[in-house]
Amino acid sequence: MPSVSIKTYGCQMNERDSEQVAAMFLAGGYRLTDDPASADVVLINTCSVREKAELKALGKMGLLCTTAKRPWVVFGFMGCMSESRGEELFREIPRLDIVTGTHRFHRVFSLCDSLLRNRLSNPSATPLRRGAHICDVQPDPQAHTFIRDHFPSRTTCSAYVSIMQGCEMRCSYCIVPFTRGEERSRPAEDILAEIRDLVATGVKEVTLLGQIVNRYGKEEPVVNGRGAFVRLLEAVHEIDGLERIRFTSPHPIGFRDDLVHAFSYLPKLCSHIHFPMQSGSDRILQLMRRPYKQAKYLALCDAMREARPDLAITTDIIVGFPGETEEDYLLTKQAVERVQFDNAFIFQYSPRRGTPAAEMPNQLCLREKEARNHDLLDTVNRIATARNAALVGTRQTILVEGPSKTNASRLQGRTSQNKPVIIEQGTAHAGELVPVLITESSGFTLYGNPV
Ligand code: 5AD
Ligand code: SF4
Repeated sequence: MPSVSIKTYGCQMNERDSEQVAAMFLAGGYRLTDDPASADVVLINTCSVREKAELKALGKMGLLCTTAKRPWVVFGFMGCMSESRGEELFREIPRLDIVTGTHRFHRVFSLCDSLLRNRLSNPSATPLRRGAHICDVQPDPQAHTFIRDHFPSRTTCSAYVSIMQGCEMRCSYCIVPFTRGEERSRPAEDILAEIRDLVATGVKEVTLLGQIVNRYGKEEPVVNGRGAFVRLLEAVHEIDGLERIRFTSPHPIGFRDDLVHAFSYLPKLCSHIHFPMQSGSDRILQLMRRPYKQAKYLALCDAMREARPDLAITTDIIVGFPGETEEDYLLTKQAVERVQFDNAFIFQYSPRRGTPAAEMPNQLCLREKEARNHDLLDTVNRIATARNAALVGTRQTILVEGPSKTNASRLQGRTSQNKPVIIEQGTAHAGELVPVLITESSGFTLYGNPV
């Protein structure tokens, strides 16, 4: 049986796309392996959001290709970096066979499989030093409808469901609109059918994925004050056997009252939102082409907390955007204190080819970006640690996912607020929702006992 190794860099959307590719290989008679050195097909799903992610993927693939001893092995890049760099990747890594873009995940299996079969039936014609150089980055207006297959994974109780692809916001720093293209939403009936099937296999929690989920079905009319995304949430909520709903990520633009209000009447909607803020300075938000003011972001956080008082809020923040002064940075720090985030992913601004911000004057040096990153991280960690410590002594319901990643003799689950909780083995089963008493907190992890 041939084997495939798929490594994923980047966001949950990339993980979901990789899962779709893996499901197609499984259906085609392949076995999945975590060991690329022994696989017959080696794939890397890439991320282009920051330079570091691209360099990691290039380094990994370069090493695998140069150390490959079995000439038939098929090497391929898929996803965002393939889309933005295309053919030029073959110049960087001559042994690379296949480069497929973000609209071509459903084509990866057949391309790789036919190349592998060809090579295995013609061993003498197979080059060891030069790959097949097949580049497929065609746009496909239906591509988003193909991200729909699943397979039993490490945690079968929780699944990602892609509801839309693409982004049209054109933030000045971001490469995603170039790599993922225009916004396309899947039909609600397809999404609901997929979730019903997942629930039938034991899934209890779904996370609805999109670059900007609140723009789901943006061309559809508002009905009884509810936009298409909230109507989708309501329909998902109706599914019997589904216990929890999450979504990621929303954008302050188009985040209307109907979505704020949803937290007050949809109990399956978890008490967590990942809500990218990017900056606390209106001047920088404007340079970033994020068309909202900090006051609007704060008002939305307040309104959501009013609708759901225990709501955990996490965010993305970029430090060191071109022209960011110490004053701008301090406004971001102030906003972090004001919102009291449960966690924040802090990114040092990384210039991306072809984006407007890469051409802006007053680019900051690495040292300045690092200093702001470290300083902000201290603030974020202090707040997050205090918020977790405040949960000691409370009761939380956790969805048990399975063995803890760091200690297989314990189980890990997540609270509605998306905080990991460790409990003793034997006290619950994977896939179970159990009430626990939180007994201890260390940084970002909680410990508890089922009650
Ligand atoms: N540099 C640094 N961070 C970036 N992000 C997107 N583009 C860049 C960039 N060029 C961050 C944003 C986004 C997250 C996924 O990545 O904060 O929300
Ligand atoms: Fe990138 Fe902005 Fe779209 Fe997010 S909203 S994917 S940061 S362009």
